Amino acid sequence: MNKKKIGIFVGSLRRDSYSRSIAKAAVSLSPEELEFRFIDIGNLPLYNQDFDDDGQPPESYEKFRNEVADLDGFLFVTPEYNRSVPAVMKNALDVGSRPYGHNVWSGKPGGIISVSPGGLGAFGANHHLRQPMVFLNILLLQQPEMYISKVASLLNEKGELVDESTRTYLKKFMDAFSKWVKVISESH
Ligand code: FNR
Repeated sequence: MNKKKIGIFVGSLRRDSYSRSIAKAAVSLSPEELEFRFIDIGNLPLYNQDFDDDGQPPESYEKFRNEVADLDGFLFVTPEYNRSVPAVMKNALDVGSRPYGHNVWSGKPGGIISVSPGGLGAFGANHHLRQPMVFLNILLLQQPEMYISKVASLLNEKGELVDESTRTYLKKFMDAFSKWVKVISESH
């Protein structure tokens, strides 16, 4: 089977990140048509246009842009910082969008999962993330939406997703995401 390569972008650098735990659960519940790789976004210097204008981007930018260009789709798993997207996630989007005319995100399918220990499921982050994706031409899965609230209560001490209803819903989300990736791939 020709599996589709999906990059996972986790918007937290925290050692015991809940978002990363959910990302791992998403991989384990995904249909086998998809294969995943976690893409490191924590080593990208803050975007500075001078790097590209001078023709001397950091090595980490070049590696990241090549990795993203090689993917068939993107899964973003993000916490919420101050009702928005953590800077590390936005920075990764910006790095992949430049130099001008070389947006490596364009035309590929994406999905968003937002995660919070609070009660609002990081709704603010989820929707703020959608805004740049319109411009970047990341073709986002619209339904089902995936907002995970009270995440600490859904994981065991090893960080495994043990809450059955969340597992069921996450599986439904991953099934829909897999179909979405197929639809977009076949339309190119
Ligand atoms: C937070 N947190 C948070 N949570 C939330 O639901 N809405 C919010 O607006 C914020 N704001 C916020 C700002 C900053 C700077 C920090 C550090 C944290 C709490 C956040 O959800 C919590 O730290 C999660 O554990 C972060 O996700 P990871 O690291 O577990 O994946």
